[in-house]
Amino acid sequence: MRKTFDFERGTRMRKLRIGIVGTGFIGKQHIEAIRRIPGTEIVAIANDDVEVAKDVSEALNIARYYSDYRKMLDEETLDVVHNCTPSAYHYPINRAVIEKGIHIFCEKPLALTTDESENLVELLKQYKVANGVNFNYRHNAMVQEMRGRVKNGSVGKVHTMSGEYLQDWLMYDTDYDWRLDPMIGGKGRAISDIGSHCFDTIQFITGKKIVGVNARLVTVYPIRKVHTKRVEDSGADRDQVKNHVKEVAIQSDDAAHILLELEDGTQGVLNISQVFAGKKNAFSLHACGEKASLTWHQEQADRLLVGNRDKGNEEIFAGASYLTDEGSYYSTLPNGHPVGWADALRSSIHSFYNAIQKGSYRDAKQGYATFETGHYIMRLVDACIKSHEENSWVRI
Ligand SMILES: NC(=O)c1ccc[n+]([C@@H]2O[C@H](COP(=O)([O-])OP(=O)(O)OC[C@H]3O[C@@H](n4cnc5c(N)ncnc54)[C@H](O)[C@@H]3O)[C@@H](O)[C@H]2O)c1
Repeated sequence: MRKTFDFERGTRMRKLRIGIVGTGFIGKQHIEAIRRIPGTEIVAIANDDVEVAKDVSEALNIARYYSDYRKMLDEETLDVVHNCTPSAYHYPINRAVIEKGIHIFCEKPLALTTDESENLVELLKQYKVANGVNFNYRHNAMVQEMRGRVKNGSVGKVHTMSGEYLQDWLMYDTDYDWRLDPMIGGKGRAISDIGSHCFDTIQFITGKKIVGVNARLVTVYPIRKVHTKRVEDSGADRDQVKNHVKEVAIQSDDAAHILLELEDGTQGVLNISQVFAGKKNAFSLHACGEKASLTWHQEQADRLLVGNRDKGNEEIFAGASYLTDEGSYYSTLPNGHPVGWADALRSSIHSFYNAIQKGSYRDAKQGYATFETGHYIMRLVDACIKSHEENSWVRI
């Protein structure tokens, strides 16, 4: 029988005691995902806005909440902390958790700067705790299937990897978020926020590192208009709200076009944008091999398209009985019950917890992205910025 996720394992072991820092969009998704993993207990949450922390603890039935994560670390007995805060807070929180000897699972990107991510990797030489970065897309069943098929040679040698990650939530000059503030989001934006997922997933599918990039970064709006007063607060119509708008200079990329080279010479190209009308979370990857191509669309996550020349193309659905070992392990629902984004997040966290439960987190190779990988991807983002500034290829 093929191996699939062992849902019983957790129940036979001591429960993992978990704390979550940052309970905005993704923090709440982590809470839901963790609750689908046996052998876990979310004992406390921390959010700098205490009203948010209180609301989430009440709504999601979590016993204790804090406004200061340091107090949570001091007062609670925790096995694992999830860092789900904006990028600027990743380094100090990760550092504090590691220094307490607690396992750390951090959202991407690993830190605000590569100096910070390098420091974290150094620190882990001293503190042997499990460390993971939530590059969740690699944990999709059909991304795993792509890796399985590239590995078993069924598509032949892969000669080109390409993809796009397109969104429209920042397409108006009145759209604004902490990700646009370099002090909170970092110097790179679309390349860091969504490009980093592309880098990780390509490296995962091919098993090869990206070693060179040539990037063009596009800032569509050098000035954005930020509302200083919320529409609902003003009690006024939209015209009056215009009076409460502040202009903010933007340096980071709304979009990026990136040529890339993998360590075995495989060539690739990425189209990344957060200003592409109509696109929501349109992350797609294509692996072109000598015998066949493979295409995966995140918005139809349970399918894989196999492109053939001499026979009809195939659309394969996630079904454990006919996938490679890699894909079937992650096909956790019966065929026809689509596995998707939430399942991949659960699997990302589950694979990290499995390594903790088994003690295998000390091994160099892991199925989840470690801080080492997170740091490498920070370097790739930096390389894209340098490449754009110098108008040339940058090798890593
Ligand atoms: N893997 C994914 O698919 C994915 C998707 C979305 C976001 N993310 C990542 O998750 C992180 C958070 O993004 P988000 O969209 O949830 O942001 P968000 O703004 O919705 O939520 C962030 C929360 O963190 C809180 N916070 C800020 N500073 C804090 C501190 N020092 N201590 C405690 N709480 C603090 C904020 O009050 C807010 O509630 C980012 O790193 C982002 O890149 C990942």
